Amino acid sequence: MYSEKVMDHFNHPRNVGEIEEPSGVGTVGNAKCGDIMRIYLDIDEQGVIQDAKFKTFGCGAAVATSSMATELVKGKTVQEALTVTNKAVMEALDGLPPVKVHCSLLAEEAIHAALWDYAQKHHIVIDGLKEPVADIG
Ligand code: FES
Repeated sequence: MYSEKVMDHFNHPRNVGEIEEPSGVGTVGNAKCGDIMRIYLDIDEQGVIQDAKFKTFGCGAAVATSSMATELVKGKTVQEALTVTNKAVMEALDGLPPVKVHCSLLAEEAIHAALWDYAQKHHIVIDGLKEPVADIG
């Protein structure tokens, strides 16, 4: 049912933890399943994401997608990080079962919420980034 990559990222999640004094942090939740995901970003002066960490209180697919999403945003600029959509994360994981697609959405929303937090703090605009509705603080 799950791809090898999903199982690998579930069993050996990358970037678990938190960043002290992050450049941006976003916490989102899914009201239906109750799962919560928080993503921390460390962004340098050039706007490049140097580090990303996550904490996920959620299902296995949410853990795997947070792990992959944090891997994918590292080294990207804040603008490029918008290309890390739930679709991109799913593709990188070789797919998710249809009932688990919403879990990958949580990863996209958490990245957006963290980027929004960074943009707010630095008074910058990231083209195409909308204020996250799901940010639960
Ligand atoms: Fe809720 Fe996966 S079941 S995030």
